[in-house]
Amino acid sequence: MLPRQAVLTDINPELVNVYCTVRDKVEAIIQHLEIHQLCHSQAYYYDLRANPGKTSIEKAARLIYLNKTCYNGLYRENSKGQFNVPMGRYKAPKICYPELLRSVSRVLKQTQIEVKPFDAVLNMAQTNQDFVYFDPPYHPISLTSRFTEYNRYAFNEADQIRLRDTFAQLAARGVKVMLSNSDCPFIRELYQGFKIHTILAARSINSNAEKRGKITEVLVTSY
Ligand SMILES: C[S@@+](CC[C@H](N)C(=O)[O-])C[C@H]1O[C@@H](n2cnc3c(N)ncnc32)[C@H](O)[C@@H]1O
Repeated sequence: MLPRQAVLTDINPELVNVYCTVRDKVEAIIQHLEIHQLCHSQAYYYDLRANPGKTSIEKAARLIYLNKTCYNGLYRENSKGQFNVPMGRYKAPKICYPELLRSVSRVLKQTQIEVKPFDAVLNMAQTNQDFVYFDPPYHPISLTSRFTEYNRYAFNEADQIRLRDTFAQLAARGVKVMLSNSDCPFIRELYQGFKIHTILAARSINSNAEKRGKITEVLVTSY
């Protein structure tokens, strides 16, 4: 959409560092990713997973590498804040997309990127002027898609309700709001009164390859 001015926020500082570093130091990231691409092996994966890196570039390239090679592209940390997803079973994962990274970097140039909880947008969005898009953790649609173990970025039903309240407050102010989520009765009930569009989405985060086809998701809008 290329807005003249945009703000991107997320609660995960590691993810925010990836976005900031792609915006500010894309060539350095590409150089690091090309090395990761050449060196990729099981031993290399577990070695890099154990070493978070020192500079913002090392950390960002490491996270992109782990995301492209780990099991189902998941993001999960243990109670010590260490990334602990095992390696995925990919034959020849493509890790570095230089042109894509450069074009993302160009788009992000005008963007303010910050670590913030979702409700911080209430202090930023201006009535009848701004558009807000929420891309929250999806409400689980099956028991097996729920994380039962420790998850620092867990997002439970109470969080989904607080997010709906934030959505409703923005909408009441005249801000245009859009949100994506899983297609399930809990989410449909939370957003009744708003427009709920059903969309087909290609799902890549599914351990069962047969279920990796298209499933429905919802896109809720205040307008
Ligand atoms: C579906 S992912 C979207 C990620 C991001 N939009 C992207 O495409 O890279 C959901 C995101 O919600 C973030 N999150 C979880 N709890 C949050 C909270 N309370 N406030 C803001 N973001 C949160 C997670 O860190 C995660 O990155």
